[in-house]
Amino acid sequence: MTRKDEIRQAYKELGKAHGFYDGMMTGTTVMGRLVDRAVWHMNRDDILEYQARALEAIPADFAGKLLEVPVGTGVISLPFFRTLKKADITCLDYSAKMMESAQKRADELGINNVSFVQGDVGDLPFEDESFDAVVSLNGFHAFPDKEAAYRQTYRVLKKDGIFTGCFYAAEANRKTDRIIQSLYVRTGFFTPPFETVDSLRSRLEKLYKQVTVSNVQSIVCFSCRGKKDL
Ligand SMILES: C[S@@+](CC[C@H](N)C(=O)[O-])C[C@H]1O[C@@H](n2cnc3c(N)ncnc32)[C@H](O)[C@@H]1O
Repeated sequence: MTRKDEIRQAYKELGKAHGFYDGMMTGTTVMGRLVDRAVWHMNRDDILEYQARALEAIPADFAGKLLEVPVGTGVISLPFFRTLKKADITCLDYSAKMMESAQKRADELGINNVSFVQGDVGDLPFEDESFDAVVSLNGFHAFPDKEAAYRQTYRVLKKDGIFTGCFYAAEANRKTDRIIQSLYVRTGFFTPPFETVDSLRSRLEKLYKQVTVSNVQSIVCFSCRGKKDL
């Protein structure tokens, strides 16, 4: 199996157990809270804090085209997208199983300005500079080809666009790092190499004009505005 196939398989299985996954991502179930504490050293407030930082760059009256990659089950993004009534939103993931849950959630929330596309972040099926915002929540630690993912998210973003999101960063908490290596990498959920908070900042500063980077425990949150000419 290639690394891509391993990742696809890992998230296919997770797609079936999205109750557990969603509980962990939101800190709202007993099992989810246990994992959040044991692996991430986070409580519910920490989780809400990193999610708010990851999304705060998108203005409340955002009315442009927004790409989310990867959407997963949409547990974090869709409740937020529900507030962006005037946006034209495209959600992409390569796990059909995860997106099935996302589609169901969008229907339940009555969101009708979102469409779903199965695809690979390393080869996005969109024109250059076609989105006003690209949102990426908890994706870069999972993507098998991170360089391609940075190139593609940059390529599809408009010159004055917003690139914002969050993901796991190494070296913020050694205990988390050990669990990520021994469990998450081995099972295909996460794929190295991983950024640190500082390496991400310097990478993004080469690509974007205004860059904010901060972390909550081992989750690094970033927001960028305006592309630099490369
Ligand atoms: C940890 S989940 C995050 C999902 C969601 N954004 C969240 O925060 O709950 C990672 C997602 O990345 C997707 N993924 C991994 N590699 C991908 C790729 N190359 N292209 C698109 N999606 C990918 C997986 O299918 C999975 O749904």
